[in-house]
Amino acid sequence: MVAKTPPMGFNTWNTFGNDIHEDLIKETADAMVDHGLAELGYAYLVIDDCWSERERNAKGELVADPQKFPNGMKAVSDYVHSKGLKFGMYSCAGTRTCAWHPGSFDHEYQDAKTFASWGVDFLKYDYCSKPLMIPGEILYRRIAMALRNCGREILFSACNWGCDGIENWVRGAGIHMWRSTGDIEDNWVSLRNIAMSQMGKEYASGTYCFNDMDMLVVGMYGKGNVGLGGCSDTEYKTHFSLWCLMNSPLMIGCDVRSMTKETKDILCNKDMIAINQDIEGRQGYSIKQEWNGGDKNILVKPLSNGDYVIGLFNLSDSKSELRFTSFDFGLTENSKMAFSLTDVWEDRHAGTYFQDYRVELEPHDCQVLRAKIVER
Ligand code: GLA
Repeated sequence: MVAKTPPMGFNTWNTFGNDIHEDLIKETADAMVDHGLAELGYAYLVIDDCWSERERNAKGELVADPQKFPNGMKAVSDYVHSKGLKFGMYSCAGTRTCAWHPGSFDHEYQDAKTFASWGVDFLKYDYCSKPLMIPGEILYRRIAMALRNCGREILFSACNWGCDGIENWVRGAGIHMWRSTGDIEDNWVSLRNIAMSQMGKEYASGTYCFNDMDMLVVGMYGKGNVGLGGCSDTEYKTHFSLWCLMNSPLMIGCDVRSMTKETKDILCNKDMIAINQDIEGRQGYSIKQEWNGGDKNILVKPLSNGDYVIGLFNLSDSKSELRFTSFDFGLTENSKMAFSLTDVWEDRHAGTYFQDYRVELEPHDCQVLRAKIVER
């Protein structure tokens, strides 16, 4: 079974866009292993759009671009597998992909077989050039059925940007993760807007079917295909924390061959990854009190062992105090219990609290606390 917890890996689009080729994929696979990403759970190496020829062959099959992949996709897939990683590819529900390569419309079963023959383990499925007369849910259900019967287990990642009421039919369709937002860009406004737009949608996320807030921009620093502005390390830390608490798949989008120490420290934080990968798959819910404004958010994620993760996010542009009381999510005076807090990023005990907790946070910064419920 795939996608019991939010899928983790790497995707070419954010940094490389059209500029993909066999050597890049092999070097990325090497780097994922050498930098310890694979060991931490980043298992899928996914090639996004622009990998194919502009037209199908005479048999109607998809064909790899011979300039970019001279040895074909099976050779790339074999290399990725030889490193202990899983191999992902991309297609589209419409007649053309978003970069105008052939889409899988009306070729769903043929393409599923092709992907299976190449050893594909993950398929991202986009939504451009969709014929207007066919509802999207029919097209996603169709490819899901084709993938489920192609002779290989393939994780199905739907990418229709949260359109057409997908949250109502995604789970029934057999989809494992679904893009619930438009495309991310490597700047603060983009990632803040995505996070804010996803708060309150935790009803749709869970084991085997996760809301996908798009690939991570951590470590891009304004370089590459969606590197439109760049972020500070503090902003990348907040971005990663939001994605972890909100159960998003963690698909790295920077160039993993040349990560800074700061980027590695964020992407490789074991305690944050454990929060994202908690087996119960509960997405953090937002608690709002009158003393925290709309852009000062507190997310609470219950974990399977009884702990609670409390994320305090100052998404505003000014230094601010964030507050919560234990009463807001469970502890009453009569409970005789308190929160024993660990600051996850700083890896230190942050005190035992009953009633009021306050912290001053710099603009765009966050604090992630793991709370054990202890006797007072
Ligand atoms: C869409 C998707 C992106 C990426 C591009 C490729 O915009 O949302 O994630 O796959 O297409 O063209």
